[in-house]
Parts: sequence; C-alpha cells; structure tokens
Amino acid sequence: ASRKFLVGGNWKCNLTKAAISDLVSAFNAASPLDPTAVEVVIAPPAIYLDSTRQILRDDFAISAQNVWVSAGGAYTGELDATMISDVGGDWTILGHSERRHHPVLKESDATIAEKAKYALETAGLNVMYCIGELLEERQSGNTVAVCERQLAALAATVSDWSKIVIAYEPVWAIGTGEVATPEQAEEVHFAVRKWLEKNVGKGVAEATRILYGGSVSPANCEELAKKGNIDGFLVGGASMQPSFLEIVDSYK
Ligand code: G3H
Repeated sequence: ASRKFLVGGNWKCNLTKAAISDLVSAFNAASPLDPTAVEVVIAPPAIYLDSTRQILRDDFAISAQNVWVSAGGAYTGELDATMISDVGGDWTILGHSERRHHPVLKESDATIAEKAKYALETAGLNVMYCIGELLEERQSGNTVAVCERQLAALAATVSDWSKIVIAYEPVWAIGTGEVATPEQAEEVHFAVRKWLEKNVGKGVAEATRILYGGSVSPANCEELAKKGNIDGFLVGGASMQPSFLEIVDSYK
C-alpha cells in the first residue's frame, strides 16, 4: 500500500526513569529509520514525556497516552494537549480501551471525540484514535457495529483526517497473549476502511493508516504486516523490550 507503516509503543503506566534510560539506549543504538517507509511513535507515562523526549533519538516521535478535553486552567490532575507539543511531543493516543472500559474512568464516545477535536484543531497534535470490541461484543456478532459507532463519534466532531490514525484493538487481545489472527484483524480493518469510504470520503479511506493492536510481538508481527489493510501496530508490552525494533522492521 502507499500508506507509510507506523508502529506505536504504548508504555501505559509502566517503567521508571532508570528503566527508560536503558530502553532508550537500546533504541538509540539501532540503525536510522527509512523515513520514507516507516514512522515510530513512543508513548511514555505523562510524567516522563519531557525527559524521554530529551534522550530519545530524533527519528522516534513522542506521544501522550491521554489529554484533557480542552484548554488548561482549573482542572487538577489534567494535561492540556498544547503542553505535549510544548515538550516536543507530536501525538496523543485517545480512546484506549483501558480508558473506555475501566470502571473508574468509563470515557464515553462523546468525551473521546471532544478530546480529539481539541488535540487536533487547537493543539495541532496527531491523534491515534483507538477502537475495538469487547469479547462479548465479538461473540454476539457486533464487532463491526461497535467499531462503526466509535468511528461515527469521531467523524461527527472532526473534519480534517490528515492527522488521524486509527488503532483497531480488540479488547480480548490486549495484554492477553491472545493475538487476533491476521484474517480476523484484516476483516475488521477492511470494514473500517469501507466505513471511512462511505461516511467520510474515498481519499480519506485510502490515506488513513489503520493499526492493529493486541498482543503484537516479534513472533507474530510479520504475518499481520503482510495484510493489505494493516498499516502498522500499536504495541503495549512488547514495546518495552529492545526487540520492539523487530516489530518496527516488520514492514520489510
Ligand atoms: O496500546 C497497546 C495495546 O493496548 C496493546 O497492548 O501489546 O500489551 O497487548 P499489548
């Protein structure tokens, strides 16, 4: 495909300053990326965004894992998206299933879409917008309907799709070691692209990268990367190992 491969590393709420220093040293020692072929985006915990940006190789971009819905002010504990670019970050992840479904967070489609609008239009960030079904939604045959509902919330709120990447992450595959088969992932990625074509436009459908996430590892990434509608990965656990670089290279 003409779409540039993209691999995200989501460190979630893990690591320490010392562990990040070791991991970044391993990443920095590897060969330069081919910037025409692949992009890498690393999402450290918010408190380590600034320090990670300062030590990480320039050809790896930095992302937040979440931001506040709008401009800063009297919002204790929150993070204004413009602060991400202030410390050299270019991205934020939004709508991760751990934020959609955790009982203390329960972020709604509408809240996530509002965050996306502010991050894109005011802060000028790129957004990795996560979608995906729960196991019971898959078992009841609602996988595509759930993804379409999550996409529709975004499409109702934003108009410029040039800085949006979709990450399809089936919730049952996240952190479980139970990766979707290349066929299962491709089927949903194809449906997402069709939805974009019908509801947003042909150009956007062709250009938008759709990443797969959920137990991606050096052992399974190559088969997934061969699929026509899989344009990269959003990697959790395996992004905190030096062998993450093998996943970055899986487009080759
Ligand atoms: O954002 C990353 C995904 O939730 C995947 O996590 O690779 O640990 O399954 P995982």
